[in-house]
Amino acid sequence: MDKILHDRLTAWRRHLHASPELTLHEEETSAFVQARLAELGIPFAAGIGGHGVVATLSRGESNRSVGLRADMDALPIQEASGVPHASSRPGVMHACGHDGHTTSLLGAAALLAADTAWSGTVQLVFQPAEEGGGGARSMIADGLFERFPMERIFGYHNWPGLEAGTVAVHDGPVMASGNRILITVTGHSGHAALPHMTRDPMVASAHLLLALQSIVSRSIDPLDSAVVTIAMMQAGSAANQIPDQAIMRGTMRALRPEVREQVEQAIQRIAEGVARSFDVSIDVETPRGNPVTANTPAERDLAAGAVQVAGLPLRRDLAPAMTGEDFAWFLEHRPGAFVWIGNGPADGGRELHNAH
Ligand code: NI
Repeated sequence: MDKILHDRLTAWRRHLHASPELTLHEEETSAFVQARLAELGIPFAAGIGGHGVVATLSRGESNRSVGLRADMDALPIQEASGVPHASSRPGVMHACGHDGHTTSLLGAAALLAADTAWSGTVQLVFQPAEEGGGGARSMIADGLFERFPMERIFGYHNWPGLEAGTVAVHDGPVMASGNRILITVTGHSGHAALPHMTRDPMVASAHLLLALQSIVSRSIDPLDSAVVTIAMMQAGSAANQIPDQAIMRGTMRALRPEVREQVEQAIQRIAEGVARSFDVSIDVETPRGNPVTANTPAERDLAAGAVQVAGLPLRRDLAPAMTGEDFAWFLEHRPGAFVWIGNGPADGGRELHNAH
């Protein structure tokens, strides 16, 4: 890459970093992307699945096509990095590096537009609302694959802790499926000194919390991976009243669809048992979020081959992460691969979703 483009990309990323926008509110980011594409003379369509933008580069005789995707949204985090281009917006921060993803896809657009030595169609997919906002599904529902034909799709996430410029390509699963866990335990309230007159949702919730932790250790094959986390419990308003209700919230993750089903069923089964044991009613929902992000074999090999052609260090030995990725929805419709690109040491708070 020449120095002029490199300097422009650095300036664009710092601009985006200083101007982060939350999931579903990426108006200015989308406008910025559109303005840069217009400068580059690349045709695009905006308003795809919300603030999404798709630019299309076609060249030569080939009717082959490929999609490249970047996400654009930021997080509700107060930046504490102290860098000159830190967020100018209180409580909003590009703490997941989507500013870098967006900029690098603009960089790919600039390089592809200037390069005459290829033939085919490249769809550049700028996705909004990756952080739990359903952006991929919105773009797909808006006709992404019908309006912008692509045979396969590729994306990447920056990866703190992996050496800068090193690319990691996974054989199968890259990131986990996600479900939310929504539990309401309902009993009967009463005086704290007269527990026999009540049906206590607190004690039932405590047993349920611990019993749910037996799913991964006792119900799932030790060679499989799953996570069950209850991250929120709310109940009670007075020290001398046993309340009517307790609410629990959490998430579960898995790397295989079969394991996901096993965990979903185990949560229901344990909740039913605890409800009977403690004479309360327990309502459980485990709504599904993104599926597993799993590379398809041919595209995984293409990605690894491209890394080698580019002369970049390649890692094939990294374990998947149990975090989720909206890119999984695209892989439900097209073969593809999602790789990690290292951005250096993760020390000093340089992890994903960290305020520093
Ligand atoms: Ni991210």
